[in-house]
Amino acid sequence: MQKNIEEIKYELKKYGQEHLLNHYETLDETKKKELLEQLSNINYELINSLYEKSKKEEKTTEDVIEPIEYLDKFKLYDDYKRYSAIGKEAIKAGKLAVVTMAGGQGTRLGHSGPKGTYDIGLDSHKSLFELLADGIKDEAKKYDVTVPWFIMTSKENNDETVRFFEKNRFFGYHKDKNLFFFKQGQLPMVDTEGKILIGEDGLVKEAADGHGGIYEALIKNKMTAKMKELGVEWVFIGGVDNCLVKMVDPVLMGIAIEKNASIAGKSIVKANPHEKVGVFCKKNGKPYVVEYSEISEEMAEAVDENGELLFGESHILCNLFSLAAIEKMGANPLPYHIAYKKAKYIDKDGNLVEPTSPNAYKFEAFLFDAFGEADNMAVLRVKREEEFAPVKNSDDVGVDCPKTARKLYEAFHGLD
Ligand code: UTP
Repeated sequence: MQKNIEEIKYELKKYGQEHLLNHYETLDETKKKELLEQLSNINYELINSLYEKSKKEEKTTEDVIEPIEYLDKFKLYDDYKRYSAIGKEAIKAGKLAVVTMAGGQGTRLGHSGPKGTYDIGLDSHKSLFELLADGIKDEAKKYDVTVPWFIMTSKENNDETVRFFEKNRFFGYHKDKNLFFFKQGQLPMVDTEGKILIGEDGLVKEAADGHGGIYEALIKNKMTAKMKELGVEWVFIGGVDNCLVKMVDPVLMGIAIEKNASIAGKSIVKANPHEKVGVFCKKNGKPYVVEYSEISEEMAEAVDENGELLFGESHILCNLFSLAAIEKMGANPLPYHIAYKKAKYIDKDGNLVEPTSPNAYKFEAFLFDAFGEADNMAVLRVKREEEFAPVKNSDDVGVDCPKTARKLYEAFHGLD
């Protein structure tokens, strides 16, 4: 909703953000309109409270963290066939859609375009998007269906992403028929004084609101409505940067259906007790992903009677949701986490400032913070070498980088 300039000025004064109109008169008409639109839509109350939160120490809570039950895909024995049959039937009936989250900035990789356009250096020179498309199509072919593909972009990378797909003939998909793009939400960045920043373009400096923004974005952009129209009941949501992601998985789906679990997440066992990853667990009796920094050394090393780590199931951003669960999660706001980042901005005198160290707060929601909404969540342990080849860092870092992902991909597909 667009407010008039007087209403905007009143609100800016109320929240101490009057500087946002300092350079208004220097903007062209289009930019002026865009800025007013942005200023009309900012939830200043929320931004102020998030900034206040950034100044406070996180208080230690009395949360009870316990291990969560999981199934091992390779120890399902006779159940395997049953789960698989249930899942196959649902996939054949067109009840599955897949979503790729591609709204991240990919700062660690350092690629200039959207991460999905990155070529990890295979002989085929396929981009991450193409590898993902291959993965969906190869599986879907087995069940004689087309699994609709939804791609979440950000305001920043949406146009380039769509152009890339166009250039590649949508990898055999049909836009707006079985391939859908939608943008995630944005939140303004603030400086250490709580002032919202103006970016190089003269507009409010905004950043994507984290992968937790997905639930709200699916609903707001009418993607859940589209899924219903298509007869979809289950939605796999994964990242763009795992080139072995298995999105169409009848076993995972069969488990979710039989166990009446509104979320089924895949895990891989931790490489070692102190690997810096988030693990599935229960917090106060509800499903949760606990960060390595949130559990004690003793908890990280604890094992069960079979010698398996009690907190060993790493969350790999591969989760299946019932459509009803997505609708429920999107209706309730998630908590925001605060990251301190470098952000270029225009100062009060109109000069561009390019900081060399972090200077601004970015607010992000995490997808797994919504898991507590699930009455019942299933966790399925899969094999790292079959389903997890992340592309996070540049090659010089040496881990979770294009080189390691390429090796895993080649080994799995027998290309090495
Ligand atoms: P990461 O948390 O690894 O972030 O995202 P990133 O943006 O890819 O990389 P860095 O941290 O800047 O280096 C995991 C997945 O979640 C998506 C990413 O695109 C990736 O698929 N994501 C992340 C979003 O879609 N939106 C966001 O706001 C953040």
